Amino acid sequence: MIKDETYIYKNTQQLSIGFTQFLINEVIKDKLSVNIALSGGSTPKAIFDYWASRFKDEIPWEKIKFFWGDERCVPPDDEMSNYGMTKKHLFDHIKIPAKNIFRIQGEDVPSDEAKRYSKVLEQQSGDINNTPELDLIILGLGDDGHTASIFPHEINLWDSNQDCVVAQHPETGMKRISFTGKVINNASKVIFLVTGENKAQKVKSIIKNRNDFKNKYPGARVNPKNQILYWFMDEKAASLI
Ligand code: 6PG
Repeated sequence: MIKDETYIYKNTQQLSIGFTQFLINEVIKDKLSVNIALSGGSTPKAIFDYWASRFKDEIPWEKIKFFWGDERCVPPDDEMSNYGMTKKHLFDHIKIPAKNIFRIQGEDVPSDEAKRYSKVLEQQSGDINNTPELDLIILGLGDDGHTASIFPHEINLWDSNQDCVVAQHPETGMKRISFTGKVINNASKVIFLVTGENKAQKVKSIIKNRNDFKNKYPGARVNPKNQILYWFMDEKAASLI
């Protein structure tokens, strides 16, 4: 039975403070190296700005290897790139070795890159079954219940036996590379970062009735192997729970 551990804050700034303490004390502390997968979206952007302004030296960035749970199939300097957003809001402001950054090459042929990135994950963090076991996977939750880049119209991709798949945005048709449920649920810790009133209904559906929404919202299929799912939310996103 999954346990939803919720941390609710007044606003994104307070959430950034709270999540940073969680990262330092529950993920990085006492470890020589940690593998963290980031998500795209507006909430992580605010946290990156907070880290860039207040934690340049207080977080041991050299200990962290950064991956992405999903990426748009665009070049790294495209404004849609999740890597590009992270570089602009975080990497350009901190000292982190380039060798610690494992970006998804969105500029390459999607099917080839999904295969390549799966291999990178297995090499960097494979567990005894060769399934990637990241220390922390950060997820967002879309208005439609998507997470990473697994969208409701192709929810079957969640159950792929691949580590990474090629997905497609339902409106724009833009191709994306995304972790599958196999990788997401195998992480040591999985957290949702969710802000805004527009997410409140999905948050309630997943936390209160995930079994009723497993065939509708990919976010309802997040079921970490340690049976704990952490939610860092603002009061608006948590207003219905
Ligand atoms: C992406 C993200 C996506 C995002 C959600 C929530 O590449 O778009 O990984 O899954 O996390 O859409 O985005 P917001 O935090 O901006 O609401």
